[in-house]
Amino acid sequence: MITDANAVWIFDTTLRDGEQSPGATMNVEEKVIIARQLEKLNVDVIEAGFAVSSPGDFDSVARVAEAVERPIVLSLARTREPDIVQALKSVEKAKRPGIHIFIATSDLHLQRKLMMSRQEVIDAACWAVEFARKHLDYVEFSAEDASRSDRDYLIQIFGEVIKRGASTLNVPDTTGYAVPEEFGASFADLIKNTPGGDSVRWSAHCHNDLGMAVANSLAAVRNGARQIECTVNGIGERAGNTSMEEVAMAIATRSDFFGLHTNIVTEQIYPASRLLSQVTGLIVPANKPIVGANAFAHEAGIHQDGVLKDKLTYEIMRPESVGIQSNKLVLGKHSGRHAFAERLKELGVDLYKVDMNKAFQRFKELADLKKNVYDEDLLAIVTEEAVRTEDRFELVEMNVSSSTGKMPHAAVRLKVEGQDRFDEGDGDGMVDACYKVIAKITGISPKLERYAVKAITGGTDALGEVSCLISQDGVTVSGQGAHTDTVHASALAYINALNKLQYRQRHYREGENEGP
Ligand code: KIV
Ligand code: ZN
Repeated sequence: MITDANAVWIFDTTLRDGEQSPGATMNVEEKVIIARQLEKLNVDVIEAGFAVSSPGDFDSVARVAEAVERPIVLSLARTREPDIVQALKSVEKAKRPGIHIFIATSDLHLQRKLMMSRQEVIDAACWAVEFARKHLDYVEFSAEDASRSDRDYLIQIFGEVIKRGASTLNVPDTTGYAVPEEFGASFADLIKNTPGGDSVRWSAHCHNDLGMAVANSLAAVRNGARQIECTVNGIGERAGNTSMEEVAMAIATRSDFFGLHTNIVTEQIYPASRLLSQVTGLIVPANKPIVGANAFAHEAGIHQDGVLKDKLTYEIMRPESVGIQSNKLVLGKHSGRHAFAERLKELGVDLYKVDMNKAFQRFKELADLKKNVYDEDLLAIVTEEAVRTEDRFELVEMNVSSSTGKMPHAAVRLKVEGQDRFDEGDGDGMVDACYKVIAKITGISPKLERYAVKAITGGTDALGEVSCLISQDGVTVSGQGAHTDTVHASALAYINALNKLQYRQRHYREGENEGP
């Protein structure tokens, strides 16, 4: 039952469809940290994973279900009994549990993938929805590849699952094929002609293959949808999903046009974007709307002149409204622990979840290296500490050198399960030398799939944030490190990734990341 007809629910699938982004795999602890941020954002629904796909996914859904209070937490499930049973079990401890059941409905998928008739698909969907509805109130049904499915057939299957108790009907544009006018019109048609269609919540789930996921989602809400499925930073399978920040800010900024609202606390958008980028190592492009580094930068003289006279001349949103603070100089080398803790509190960091001794020590080290310590630097420190796994390897010290005509050289000392280990060697560059020595000491030589450096704040003493992606035996993990010295940050990122790799290999072995 929809109580507020103008409220558009935000169904966040960063932890499920978003994680299907190449290189976006997250471990359980990282998913819990993201879920807590999603709760601060005030999303309505969190799709925490696909419980049946692996023990790791089951654990993630279960841990997220326990970690948050307000949002509905659910798992994806096919129409098969083991899927539904695992999905229900995984959300047993959720304050507000749900389930998301899907099956494909396009003839192409029926004939080439499922090898099922239309009636068989209807029967499977009805069975699954009826079974789940005995246990839960929030039962969402998705018709995969809906945008390429026969409209009359969609009306038929949606009508049947409503009778079996589905509370939300999702219309996915699985392949990113739809265009806004057509997609919007299909909602108007489905809502009007599906028996019982006025008693359920309609949802849009769009992919961005043609760059129209946001436009398609907005066209859907213009035509009666009251839920948008999306991800932070628009991450997701192939070209990604609808970007949460773009739809939320479009609905807020153009409320004069849409006459709608979401429950999103928009000031939490930028912290969520940064956190996700730091955890996954997926860098947000500078020109990305709302959260990109250039989203509020005015370059042209005429624009700068206008903005100085009146911001409204060229700004349709205030950066503060999405949580972007002007780079505020906060602390320096002489700041004490109390001031440090106070500033973290002001930045919305939950202090009881931070190891203050470690975080303060990192801050002091940073303040020694760098004159100006900004809010962004502080957030990088605490996030990096928060996403640490049980560390087997720890960097004690390193010494790297490079000069013309000589091979770059690295000498590294690590703690391996508390034992001091030292080695040295050459490489093609300083980072390469460092990584080769670390691999020698740890005895692990994974493939380096991706390596990226980003300066968090301006200036030559900026904190450099390195993210790398490594893989071994089918397990892929990302690692992050921040330091004023890029080679040092690179070593921290690599060691962080090696720790995660060991953790994953120890805790979960097979069947990871099997997406729908
Ligand atoms: O894109 C899609 O169709 C999906 C479904 C599982 C909803 O992600
Ligand atoms: Zn999808």
